[in-house]
Amino acid sequence: MITDIQPSEFNNPSLEILISAEKLQMRIQELGAQITRDYVGKDLLLVCVLKGACIFLSDLIRNIDLPLSLDFIAVSSYGGASKSSGEVRILKDLDASLKGKDVLVVEDIVDTGLTLNYLLDIFHRREANSVSVVAFLDKPSRRVRQVDVAYIGFEIPNAFVVGYGLDYAERYRNLPFVGVVKTENP
Ligand code: IMP
Ligand code: MG
Repeated sequence: MITDIQPSEFNNPSLEILISAEKLQMRIQELGAQITRDYVGKDLLLVCVLKGACIFLSDLIRNIDLPLSLDFIAVSSYGGASKSSGEVRILKDLDASLKGKDVLVVEDIVDTGLTLNYLLDIFHRREANSVSVVAFLDKPSRRVRQVDVAYIGFEIPNAFVVGYGLDYAERYRNLPFVGVVKTENP
């Protein structure tokens, strides 16, 4: 007897679809084509900010028609008072040097901008040839620190979103679309 039927993550009634799977895939094709044009002849290194950006990265690179390499960094923001300083803790650092590379930082979402600001600062100090950012989502209304994002997938309103790599308490990363959590207890 089945006693514990879980609602499907894909058809969760507490989620409202904000960006459909079809729409986001089309936009990623455009971003890939744009990056391909801009990075011809460069030493392109994509730096994925774990964990949220991993789904975006995997679709994006299949739309970039250039030789490229990948590296990964995992960070966590300090809570409490130090959060306003924009300091982040590096949980897993890059494997290789950035010297001479044309670095494209791949982020899931730019919210306050504090995380990205910190990362850009340390990447510049590591003697990269250039450092730019591609962010899947942008929530400009929440910005605390100004940050230059060269490529943006979608600008979204000030709502907490999940799916396509983004989590709520580690859940929902596997959704193929971006949704807004509607209930207090998703
Ligand atoms: P920032 O330093 O405030 O820009 O933080 C950006 C990070 O916060 C992102 O990389 C996400 O991990 C997380 N984040 C911000 N907004 C959301 C959201 O709406 N859903 C899920 N994660 C979010
Ligand atoms: Mg997160």
